Amino acid sequence: MRSVHFFDTTLRDGEQSPGVNLSTEEKVAIALQLERLGIDVIEAGFAASSRGDGESIRQVARAVRTSTVVSLARAVEKDIDRAYEALKDAESPGIHVFLATSPIHRKYKLNMSRDEVLDQAEAAVRRARKYFPWVEFSCEDGGRTEKDFLCRVAERVIEAGADVLNIPDTVGYLTPVEYGEIFRYLKQNARGIEKVRLSAHCHDDLGMATSNTLAAVETGVEQVEGTINGIGERAGNAALEEVAMALATRESFYQAAVNLNLKEITKTSRMVSKMTGMFVPGNKAVVGANAFAHEAGIHQDGMLKNSATYEIMRPETVGLTDTRLVLGKHSGRHAFRDKLVGMGYSFTDHQLNELFVRFKELTDRKKTVEDEDLVSLVEEKWGEP
Ligand code: KIV
Ligand code: ZN
Repeated sequence: MRSVHFFDTTLRDGEQSPGVNLSTEEKVAIALQLERLGIDVIEAGFAASSRGDGESIRQVARAVRTSTVVSLARAVEKDIDRAYEALKDAESPGIHVFLATSPIHRKYKLNMSRDEVLDQAEAAVRRARKYFPWVEFSCEDGGRTEKDFLCRVAERVIEAGADVLNIPDTVGYLTPVEYGEIFRYLKQNARGIEKVRLSAHCHDDLGMATSNTLAAVETGVEQVEGTINGIGERAGNAALEEVAMALATRESFYQAAVNLNLKEITKTSRMVSKMTGMFVPGNKAVVGANAFAHEAGIHQDGMLKNSATYEIMRPETVGLTDTRLVLGKHSGRHAFRDKLVGMGYSFTDHQLNELFVRFKELTDRKKTVEDEDLVSLVEEKWGEP
C-alpha cells in the first residue's frame, strides 16, 4: 500500500493566524513534538520574512533530527539564499518555493505574463536545487489557475529539478470534486509528472479543507499539507489530525498508509493550542474535548455494551486514556450505576433508584454532573461512609 507523507506548516501558515506569535523556544518545542508525531516535513517558517523567523528556523533545524525541516521562500534569489543560511545545520534540509500562477494574481499582484511566471518559477527551482537536497514548488492560488497553464508550470519546474509539486487551494474556494479533478488533469496532461510527488494544500474558507485534501489523496496524491488543529490564515488550513484519522480509520477505502504515531495527536494538539492561545472548540473532530464524550442515555448504554455502537475511533488511538461518559440530563440509569461503581460505591437496586431520582433533579439545575456532585448526593442521603 502506498504511504501518504505529512507536511506540517503549523509554524508557518499556522503562525499566520491573526494574533498568533510564537517565540523561538515555543517553535522548537512544537517542532520536536511534531517530530515525535512522525511528521515527514516540518515547515519551520519563512526565513526572509524577518530576522526572528530566520533565527527560529535555525534553532528548529539544529534540534530536529529525523524530519525534513524546510523554509518557505518566494521565487527570488534573496529568499532562497536566506533559507539556505537558516537551514545550514539541518540534518535533512529542504526548501518550499512558491509563485502565484492564477490569472487574478498574475494581473493584480504580480503584473506578470504567463511566460514571465514560467521563467521565474524555473529559475527559482534551478537555484534552489543547487543548495537543497529537497525542493518543493507551490503554484500559489493553483486552485484558481487555468489547468493547461498549471501543466506548463509543472513541466518547467519538473525539468528544473523539483521533487514535490504542490497545488494549493490558497483561498479555500474549490469543492472536493473540483480539487481532485486538478490532480487527475495534471497526471494525464503534464509531461514528466510521474517524476514528482504531488502535494495537496487546502484552506478552510468554506469548511472544505479536510474533504478537499482527502479528495486529492483519492486521486493518488502522496503528500498532504496542513496544520495541527487547523490553525492558519483566515479560516485556517486543513487540520492534519483530521486528515490522519480519516485516512487511518478508512484505510481500506483510501488504500493509503499513514505512518504517524497517532498516539501523539492529543498531546500535540494541546501543546499547539496552549502555545498559540488558539482555543480548540469542544466539538472539533478528533481533538475537541467532546470528540470521545457521550451524554445521551441511549448512546451511553450502547457504549457500555460495545463501544463500536457509537465510536468509530478508539480514544486510545489518539493518546487519550478513555471514552468520557458525561453525566447530564440525557444520561440513563446504566451509565449512572456504572459511574458509581467505578467510584467505589455499591448500592442495592432500591437505593440506586432513589439516588437516580435525585440525580435527575440535579441535572435540571446543573448541565454536567461531576464526581464531587455525586459524592454530595450520596452523603446527603446516607452521610459520610
Ligand atoms: O496557501 C498557500 O498558497 C500557501 C503558499 C505559500 C504555498 O500557503
Ligand atoms: Zn497556505
